[in-house]
Amino acid sequence: MPLSDFSMKFKFLKPPDSTLGVVGCFSFCLCLILCFFLLDYSVVENFHGNSSLMAWFKPNGSLPGQEMVGFLEAGGDGCDVFNGRWEWDERYPLYQSRDCAFLDEGFRCSENGRPDNFYTKWRWQPNHCNLPRLAIVLEFTHSSRLVYSNFPVSMLLIATHKLARFDAKVMLEKLRGKRLAFVGDSIGRNQWESLLCMLSSAVPNKTSIYEVNGNPITKHMGFLIFKFRDFNCTVEYYRAPFLVLQSRAPAGAPKNVKMTLKLDQMDWSSSKWKDADILIFNTGHWWNNEKTIKVYALSIFTVMDWIGRQVNVSTKHILFRTYAPVHFSGGDWNTGGGCDLETFPDLTASPMSPETLVGFKTVVDALSERQRLPVIELLNVTSMTSQRRDGHSSYYYLGPAAQPSALQHQDCSHWCLPGIPDSWNELLYAVLLKREGWNSTKTPHSPG
Ligand SMILES: *[C@@H]1O[C@H](CO)[C@@H](O)[C@H](O)[C@H]1NC(C)=O
Ligand SMILES: *[C@@H]1O[C@H](CO)[C@@H](O)[C@H](O)[C@H]1NC(C)=O
Ligand SMILES: *[C@@H]1O[C@H](CO)[C@@H](O)[C@H](O)[C@H]1NC(C)=O
Ligand SMILES: *[C@@H]1O[C@H](CO)[C@@H](O)[C@H](O)[C@H]1NC(C)=O
Ligand SMILES: *[C@@H]1O[C@H](CO)[C@@H](O)[C@H](O)[C@H]1NC(C)=O
Ligand SMILES: *[C@@H]1O[C@H](CO)[C@@H](O)[C@H](O)[C@H]1NC(C)=O
Ligand SMILES: *[C@@H]1O[C@H](CO)[C@@H](O)[C@H](O)[C@H]1NC(C)=O
Repeated sequence: MPLSDFSMKFKFLKPPDSTLGVVGCFSFCLCLILCFFLLDYSVVENFHGNSSLMAWFKPNGSLPGQEMVGFLEAGGDGCDVFNGRWEWDERYPLYQSRDCAFLDEGFRCSENGRPDNFYTKWRWQPNHCNLPRLAIVLEFTHSSRLVYSNFPVSMLLIATHKLARFDAKVMLEKLRGKRLAFVGDSIGRNQWESLLCMLSSAVPNKTSIYEVNGNPITKHMGFLIFKFRDFNCTVEYYRAPFLVLQSRAPAGAPKNVKMTLKLDQMDWSSSKWKDADILIFNTGHWWNNEKTIKVYALSIFTVMDWIGRQVNVSTKHILFRTYAPVHFSGGDWNTGGGCDLETFPDLTASPMSPETLVGFKTVVDALSERQRLPVIELLNVTSMTSQRRDGHSSYYYLGPAAQPSALQHQDCSHWCLPGIPDSWNELLYAVLLKREGWNSTKTPHSPG
């Protein structure tokens, strides 16, 4: 039947034309298919070799922006990776929340009904260098090959889609036999869960990643330690919102005194994390009023002094993530403030809000006052994060079954995941590799 259909259709065409047309069309298709087999081949070759897929798009393999030096290269030494801009990038996000078992419900915005996903598509681009890029991970499966030969254009999309800048395998290799610990408030937990998702995306057997004490991630635990069995490393979180010791109010204290802070003592959990190889501190969100802000700096001094005494800084990598801004507008968290209508970042770096400036400067000033040697490295994310009012959980920290009465409060402090903390972790990845002396021979750079 198809054959007769075919001849019927061409019956009315002049024989020479139709032959030409068919032959022309056929050879064009053949050409295309050949081309893409060639590309296919070259891509596979490149996966093992040293040139990049991008070489296809420009003769000498450069892309706009690629002329910039890579952060890990010798020329990238002075580059401030926190000075940059947000750029739209379709290849993001790096993972989907539904694929990650390590997320609190409160961060699963899209699963909780957030309608837009623009906020997951911005990539941080430093102004003066490029961040490390991952080795090109191309998955050539039978189905994708099929797709290619039918739709050559989508083949390119599939092939480039896997390019991203965070290489979970490289990071897990660097962490082999080590402990990485986040210590701080729930924004630190936000970043920790983001890192778990980013790292676990490279581990096929998810059951080989587990909490060492068997605790579930959704429970509000004081600390959680996830082990990546095949890499013998742990990625840990310790809840210590003030870093210094928080305890019950003393006997006989007035009723409205709920707790006391011992500014000269470290949080009770410090003995558990002091031997971690990589420590990432944060604090700030609980130092929320005039009174506590005055003692905020004192607590940072305590932390610094304690690190000086208790931690062998020559063998450890200690980082402090700076204040993550909140973006309530039209009120505060308990007076109807919100951020649910924000779907777009503030692309021009505008001045920080007064609250953010205090949260940021208190830590930075205290660190620089006490610090003679640069033993504590800053993850200076405050400015870049100020631009991302679109990344908060707003109403979508609540599961779909939430009571309407709960909708009175929005969360404009924490961040949806995937989202902004992923970018902090890309920067963490870059500074860890830099510190380890990794260079472009191992991790090529690209603007994406
Ligand atoms: C691979 O790298 C070597 C040395 O860096 C270079 O000589 C060679 O041309 C490169 N190959 C390709 C295909 O770029
Ligand atoms: C080739 O790359 C160099 C830098 O690596 C750049 O200056 C030059 O403009 C590129 N040429 C083309 C044709 O893209
Ligand atoms: C943090 O980064 C911002 C933006 O690049 C910059 O203005 C500021 O000076 C940096 N602060 C520190 C302490 O590095
Ligand atoms: C796993 O890492 C720990 C350090 O965290 C080390 O003491 C231990 O020997 C390692 N085990 C193996 C099997 O490599
Ligand atoms: C996955 O990891 C679990 C726990 O370590 C192990 O029992 C199981 O055999 C692993 N499965 C595969 C397919 O490797
Ligand atoms: C710190 O670690 C280094 C390297 O292991 C060691 O040589 C040094 O003695 C340690 N310092 C202290 C104070 O423990
Ligand atoms: C880059 O890495 C290679 C391989 O590890 C090493 O041989 C080389 O000395 C490094 N170069 C620089 C500039 O660090």
